[in-house]
Amino acid sequence: MISTVYAITLVGIGLVIAVFYFVIANSKEADPDYPSITKKWYGVRSKWFLFLLVLGITVSVLSTNPFPTPDQKKEYSGGDYQNVTVDSHQWYWIMTPSTVKAGQPVEFQVSSADVNHGFGIYDEKLTLVAQTQAMPGYTNKLIHTFDKPGKYKILCLEYCGLAHHAMISELTVE
Ligand code: CUA
Repeated sequence: MISTVYAITLVGIGLVIAVFYFVIANSKEADPDYPSITKKWYGVRSKWFLFLLVLGITVSVLSTNPFPTPDQKKEYSGGDYQNVTVDSHQWYWIMTPSTVKAGQPVEFQVSSADVNHGFGIYDEKLTLVAQTQAMPGYTNKLIHTFDKPGKYKILCLEYCGLAHHAMISELTVE
């Protein structure tokens, strides 16, 4: 395997050297038509550049979407939303309440009492459903609507010390 890679690399290097040799050996004095040719193609080049610039900006603007996080300043409390406060500590979660209803959006207000943690919600098959950072001094809002009732697992997604792996909790969706 390794020797095959070496062989391919050597052949590739040989080809590059051959191309360079060919170009150097065949280069002559500049063609008298050269200035008119450069004038023409430099014009094409600047139009091509403009075209690529406009295309690039258009594609960038069209493919830019708002970052998919809820407005962190807005209050989501009230009729439609269920509110859950999440406090993270080394190495446990305090969720109040720890039971929510399916089919109605939940606003998690996630913070940390010590270091950065990662608030990750997993379904029963341990597939990640939603997540946000738990940071000291900040309250991050995460909005999620659960489709299915069940027992969801909360796992920490940010290495936060010795017992990071044991930072597990459960959320019940009815
Ligand atoms: Cu908390 Cu890792």
